[in-house]
Amino acid sequence: MKNKYIILTLLVLSTLALGANMDSAIWGKELVPNILNYDKEGSLHLGQYFTLLQSGYFKLIFFGVLVGVPALFLVHYLIIGPMIFSHDRKKIYVFTLFNRIIHTIAGIAFMILIPTGLIIMFGATLGGGELVRVAKEIHAISTLLFIVSIIPMFTMWVRWMFVHWDDFKWLMIVGGYLNKNKKPVPAGKFNAGQKLWFWLATLGGVVMIATGAAMYFQDFRLEILVELGISQIDFLRGSAIIHNILGMAVLGLFMTHVYMSVFAIKGAIHSIITGYKEEEEVEVLHSTFYKKLKKQNKI
Ligand code: HEM
Repeated sequence: MKNKYIILTLLVLSTLALGANMDSAIWGKELVPNILNYDKEGSLHLGQYFTLLQSGYFKLIFFGVLVGVPALFLVHYLIIGPMIFSHDRKKIYVFTLFNRIIHTIAGIAFMILIPTGLIIMFGATLGGGELVRVAKEIHAISTLLFIVSIIPMFTMWVRWMFVHWDDFKWLMIVGGYLNKNKKPVPAGKFNAGQKLWFWLATLGGVVMIATGAAMYFQDFRLEILVELGISQIDFLRGSAIIHNILGMAVLGLFMTHVYMSVFAIKGAIHSIITGYKEEEEVEVLHSTFYKKLKKQNKI
């Protein structure tokens, strides 16, 4: 138990050291000569796609996700409404203190990363200048917070996140969210939707960090890129394309995650604050897990 906190402290300290070293050698007077070499190093010619995506499509899709996903949930809330479970039965302990601390760090990081990311994306429309520059720095600094949470989050939950037959059944009935019947839904401790979010947030998160760092530092002169015939500018363009596409998925699923936790299942958010879930919620929404706990006499 103690080891976990020691590892977390070491992670925080090494991430802070990384943050303190954020100044890139290429920024400043070296930047222009570096740019002059762009595309002379061999190129995948990503330029035209990058310009097309960056100048129009990305903004449009981001806007679509930002407005479309909440609109869909508003319709869901108005037509079907939240699931409400009894608070009179037992409470089941599902998240340890360590789980909750790590999750809180990730949550705080995202609540900064997402708005600042959107300011960067819609920078020109918002007037550009200082606002975008400040947003970019805050975006980079809050990434450090996200880095601290991502490894522990992966290791503490990964064993529950592998694909199971229940996941296909869960997907076929959209998790039971299309009606308010309290019919047992096939799912273990985490359902298919939660697993998808976990993999996107952790593995996708690592790709977001790497592509974001490539754009922030701008001088990733990696030998392997030269060998693969990828120019520095194409590496940056590729990073921006991947960062934006993954960013859209993260934005959509993050809003879904918050909707599920705060609105779709009444009181669900308490589980990640106190560690306890209502017995009826586990019995209905995580029926396989519930049966297993019963069999093991844990409830
Ligand atoms: C700030 C807003 C957030 C809220 C309100 C929130 C809420 C919750 C709740 C209530 C749970 C327990 C779900 C359950 O089993 O019933 C949970 C689990 C989880 N959260 Fe969050 N969370 C937030 C942000 C995040 C962020 C930023 C990440 C990832 C970077 C994240 C990743 C996860 C994962 C992987 C789980 C376990 C699987 C799942 O339940 O989806 N959460 N969260």
